[in-house]
Amino acid sequence: MVLSQKNGHFIVFEGLDGSGTTTQIKLLSRYLSSLDIVTHLTREPSDRPIGLLIRQALQKHFVLPSGKRLTPETIALLFAADRADHLAAEIEPRVARGEWVLSDRYLPSSLAYQGAECELSWVKSINKVARKADLTLFLDVSVATCVERIQHRSAEIEIFEHHDRLVLIKEKFEETLLAEKKKDIIRIDGSLSVEKVHQNIVDIIRQFF
Ligand code: TYD
Repeated sequence: MVLSQKNGHFIVFEGLDGSGTTTQIKLLSRYLSSLDIVTHLTREPSDRPIGLLIRQALQKHFVLPSGKRLTPETIALLFAADRADHLAAEIEPRVARGEWVLSDRYLPSSLAYQGAECELSWVKSINKVARKADLTLFLDVSVATCVERIQHRSAEIEIFEHHDRLVLIKEKFEETLLAEKKKDIIRIDGSLSVEKVHQNIVDIIRQFF
């Protein structure tokens, strides 16, 4: 089947830190653009005001006067607010115009990451306005491989902290997104070479749309 612009779509990439979502989403965007499909690459936390605030908070630059960090509940609310804003201002208008919007993380990340620290039903409820993506691709990579890749990127990582946290996040992805067993949620082996994973993603996209 030949892919073409026709309708707008909303495609989400998910995975653990170090699973390769950023690399693969860029490759897919380039591939779709080469077919003259208008694509828009985006991410969460977004590059809009609330998203920028979250990035600061995650990087520990955001210190409250008391010296304390934001609570997990506050962070969860910021992610939900960022998502509502991101959808209304960036994702929905572009999909409506017929663009293919590709997002590096979305709602499933909140269910896994915030679901690991806050009550899951509450995290779901504060994200109720977030429409589902048309297709969600989960890059499946072992925690050990993710930790190895993260270490390559930055020397400052506390390995054990990361390892234990990623094990928990992976469990949460399994319990939430991956437990849904829906046709529009596809698990991809992300441990293969960059080229092979990209080829598999292209094959899935061609079959799906
Ligand atoms: P970032 O460095 O952009 O992620 P990546 O390493 O995937 O490029 O940081 C995003 C972090 O935010 C990542 O650790 C996952 C986390 N996150 C949440 O905790 N909840 C969410 O809803 C989203 C979208 C991300």
